[in-house]
Amino acid sequence: MTTAPVSIPAAFTVSSAGLGGRSDNYEVFLPRLAGVYSDDGAFENQLAQRGADELVYTVDVHSYDNGPGSLTIGTSTLLPGKVGEEFAVTRGHLHALADRAELYYCISGRGVMLMDTLGGETRAIEMTPGVAVHVPGHWIHRSVNVGDEPFVTLFCYNGDAGQDYEVIAAAGGMKTLVVDDGAGGWRAVTNPNHTGYALDTTTA
Ligand SMILES: [Fe+2]
Repeated sequence: MTTAPVSIPAAFTVSSAGLGGRSDNYEVFLPRLAGVYSDDGAFENQLAQRGADELVYTVDVHSYDNGPGSLTIGTSTLLPGKVGEEFAVTRGHLHALADRAELYYCISGRGVMLMDTLGGETRAIEMTPGVAVHVPGHWIHRSVNVGDEPFVTLFCYNGDAGQDYEVIAAAGGMKTLVVDDGAGGWRAVTNPNHTGYALDTTTA
């Protein structure tokens, strides 16, 4: 993570190259995706072949505060790829303050916003440039790249939202997998390892 102070009000640029004028940036490499994909053998093979410094996604952030009225604005750039039949994914999370919603807007590439509720609803919405998805509070969410170029989205959420990644791991993964349909597209299939989410009251 690199951090640079920002002054507000601020103007910054948003493009398929990310944010110009970001306050933070982080990179997620393949080892951080351990246990995320349904095919552990395919993941281990890919890790052995590509190595621990294989970049999966990067995030640029423009943020000045983590108070409830502030905004965290950024871009997510998820590189293309597959692990087994499953397309490349971000780790995914429920907001630590679970009622916090989020906007995603596709800048470039082709992807899917995959969303689950703790109660068992699931959605997979395709995103192409110009498409926005309004992720309501209480929905777990993850980006999936189903194309052959970086999938770049602009996101915006309340600065106090936080992220809970463990809720997915504890459930054996998200309810739905986005896999290659063998015809140049994608399809959503039920994750056989998903055990259901714990209805944990620690997430408000
Ligand atoms: Fe989020």
